[in-house]
Amino acid sequence: MKEKLKKLLSLALKEIEAGSSLSTLKEIEVKFIGRKGKLTEILKGIKDLSEKEKPIIGQLANQYKNQIETAIADKTVEINKAEIEKALASESIDITIPGQKPELGHIHPLYQVQKEVEEIFNQMGFTVVDGPEIESEYYNFEGLNIPEDHPARDCQDTFFIKGKEDKKHKRLVLRTHTSPLQVRSMEKYGAPLRIIVPGRVFRYEATDASHDATFHQVEGMLIDKNISLAHLKGVMKEFLSRLFGKEVNVRFRPGYFPFVEPGVELDFSCLICLGAGCRVCKHTGWVEFMGAGMTHPNVLKAGGIDSKKYQGWAFGFGLTRLIMMRYAINDIRLLAGGDLRFTKQF
Ligand code: PHE
Repeated sequence: MKEKLKKLLSLALKEIEAGSSLSTLKEIEVKFIGRKGKLTEILKGIKDLSEKEKPIIGQLANQYKNQIETAIADKTVEINKAEIEKALASESIDITIPGQKPELGHIHPLYQVQKEVEEIFNQMGFTVVDGPEIESEYYNFEGLNIPEDHPARDCQDTFFIKGKEDKKHKRLVLRTHTSPLQVRSMEKYGAPLRIIVPGRVFRYEATDASHDATFHQVEGMLIDKNISLAHLKGVMKEFLSRLFGKEVNVRFRPGYFPFVEPGVELDFSCLICLGAGCRVCKHTGWVEFMGAGMTHPNVLKAGGIDSKKYQGWAFGFGLTRLIMMRYAINDIRLLAGGDLRFTKQF
């Protein structure tokens, strides 16, 4: 019996020593000291031995079992260590190499300038309002005193949205200007009113260096008692001077828009040549900037405002054109082209 046990021990120790992976070690453990292991079977048979043999064999078997367990534990540590070392050698990183800096984006030049515009008008008491880009014919035209057969509708080539109609508001269109927010805001806030509306507008036009089917405008409207065009001139001179960081002069010329009466065009003094004449101002010393005028009584009426008590004016300028002028960008398509070589310059 003793001999048998000894042989079993040396066989187990030999196998453990030769074992090269954790899974073989597990198999060896099961084979010798598992529930049905060879040594376990012997331990189970001890009860049938003689009284004399029982303690001797029992002690020996237990001692061998411990020896096998220890050998397996030692070998496990050895294998783990080797594996960790192997992994470390292949996965090691050089922590002294400088890291890769993630690239930070920035706000598009168009929205950088839009924000400046909003801040300046905020400081003068104007609220920034927003409205739908898919607009009804009513707010885009009728409410602004532009009836169905009015020639002004021909000037603005409109994208119509198929199939959607309602009796008062008629078809849906992609708004051709930010002016629909005039009547919308009067309805919502009443008088007195001071708003600006920066936003995208759409016209069915061929694209070239200075035209795009999508562009950005800023609408403005002020309604109060005893308001005249002098207030508009003052506000715009102040606005442009703050935006450009130097004194800018403005002038009115007569202009026509169905929703204002009288209507004007506003020019500002050329910042490039300071009035001497250059290519930017087409040698006039003035840059055409925006349309404006005193709000037509029909428009005040559409907005639910009593034109006997209140007057107001409205203006609309192209934010896109302003930015092109400010940064001397010669092609409008660059702004929405998504070319990083362009956008990264701002
Ligand atoms: N909506 C006009 C346009 O797009 C501009 C404008 C706004 C003119 C307000 C007068 C008053 O050309």
